Amino acid sequence: MKRIILSSILLTWQLICPTQIHSQIVGAGKTVDPYHYTITKSKTFDHASVACAHPLASAIGAEIMKRGGNAFDAAVATQLTLAVVYSNAGNIGGGGFLVARKSDGKNIAIDYRETAPANASRDMYLDKNGNAQVMLSQYGHQASGVPGTIAGLFETAKFAKLPFKTLIQPAIDLAEFGYVITERESIALNSVRESLIKNSTAPSSFVKEQKWKAGDTLIQKDLAATLKRIRDNGQKGFYEGKTAELIVDEMKKGYGIITLSDLKNYHAKVRTALEFNYKGYKIIGMPPPSSGGIIVWQLMKMMEARNLAAKGFQTIKSTQLMIEAERRSYADRAEFMGDPDFWKVPLKTLTSDVYIQKRIADYDSTKATPSTGIKAGVIKESEETTHISIIDKDGNMISITTTLNNSYGSRTVVAGAGFIMNDEMDDFSVKPGVANMYGAVGGEANAIAPGKRMLSSMTPTVVLDKNNKPFIVAGTPGGTTIPTSVFQTLVNIIDFDMNATDAVNKPKFHHQWLPDEVMIEKDFNADTKKQLLAMGYKISERGAIGRTEVIKVLPDGKREVAADKRGDDSVAGF
Ligand code: DON
Repeated sequence: MKRIILSSILLTWQLICPTQIHSQIVGAGKTVDPYHYTITKSKTFDHASVACAHPLASAIGAEIMKRGGNAFDAAVATQLTLAVVYSNAGNIGGGGFLVARKSDGKNIAIDYRETAPANASRDMYLDKNGNAQVMLSQYGHQASGVPGTIAGLFETAKFAKLPFKTLIQPAIDLAEFGYVITERESIALNSVRESLIKNSTAPSSFVKEQKWKAGDTLIQKDLAATLKRIRDNGQKGFYEGKTAELIVDEMKKGYGIITLSDLKNYHAKVRTALEFNYKGYKIIGMPPPSSGGIIVWQLMKMMEARNLAAKGFQTIKSTQLMIEAERRSYADRAEFMGDPDFWKVPLKTLTSDVYIQKRIADYDSTKATPSTGIKAGVIKESEETTHISIIDKDGNMISITTTLNNSYGSRTVVAGAGFIMNDEMDDFSVKPGVANMYGAVGGEANAIAPGKRMLSSMTPTVVLDKNNKPFIVAGTPGGTTIPTSVFQTLVNIIDFDMNATDAVNKPKFHHQWLPDEVMIEKDFNADTKKQLLAMGYKISERGAIGRTEVIKVLPDGKREVAADKRGDDSVAGF
């Protein structure tokens, strides 16, 4: 039955598919066939590779590099493809961060995080009694920041070799002629059906009468038209003209506050990547408005002199040390971190060895330190995202994390434009001490202000080996668990000598200061769990922590690539 459906889809595709597309990448029977694709979890490639949340997007990124593109070309094409085939997090209505190490030795950090609209205000999510209305920052028209993704892609394309038109065409074809969805996607779409209906003002491709099932074709005509406007008019095809008008019209239907001038004034920012040494390896990460780079820096430095490898993987000794480090670092996140253009983040102190060692000095290896006893350090100075890891044949390494925040973002589809808006306003501290959807609290540093970027946990990271050669590209979704997942993946490789697959798939655990509990995945070491309980830790079991994509460059230069077992994530390369 499935075969009959697939071959009739194939026939329909061949009938409707204009000839010019046959010379391109996407199509039935082409290099990237949207009706027949498989998931590859792990593989070693000679030259170049991509790992990301969807096999079609990995395949397109790899194919672009095969056809002469570099890692930046692949980064643009892969993200645009994810915006079509991975609607719960791939996006043009959201934002993200890119960290890269170019083969010429230069670091790049591109910040295309969403901004608060000009009419946003500090207390906009408080009712008249001062209570936080988190439904408004998480769902519907008022939850969205000004999207940054398209500006970020054009900033990225400055380092690319192929024309933008070539990089966007696969996404246009997939949106216009459709692709077959996986079982996981069908479940995800069915689970948000009511929420999409409630928060959108017009019918959209994501909602149909019957339930979605694996093998159904998802066609997105409105999104294809939006992508064509971007292809033909560049960045203005999104931030001005028809697409911008459609966004603003949609906003007006639901008390949303994004205006035409908010869109026109949006700019991606090139920032200085963070870089530090860990046991001779060079770790390169994202600076604020992400908290991720600083947290990973602090965590790794708290480990460096404490010989993690000798303590053993996920033994009580190593796990408890890592938990206590995480607790301290996340306390700093809540107090000191925000958009550096609005708030003076004490970056120098937060990443200084003296400060970091002082933070962990009071740790007791025999018992839990309650979070009530841990405050941020003293400094005297004023669940769905998606990750892409890429390396090309020249050794350009790129790590990108991008998001709508929640799965399917605000659930508001822009009528006539076919894409989902983010609910990133919830990443601000809507009220001091009130937790966001990931349980993170914050204060002044991350208060809402017009034009400000909300604090993020996204942690795109690249690592060089002791000879300054490409070694690791890593990153993951997972809200506040992101920095700890990246941290644990890095020590899995560097200290526990794991291959890429094990580094990604081994169970993860997480502590974020508040709430004062250790979150663990179901398959976490039972013996260590017992010992943690005995030491006074509160433990909560939860679903998957992250979906990490890792590239590890082997001593012979080959690229060992692993996509997380926790999703449809898949690798491609050559
Ligand atoms: O920027 C952040 O930290 C969040 N908006 C990320 C959200 C996320 O990872 C959800 N995925 N599971």
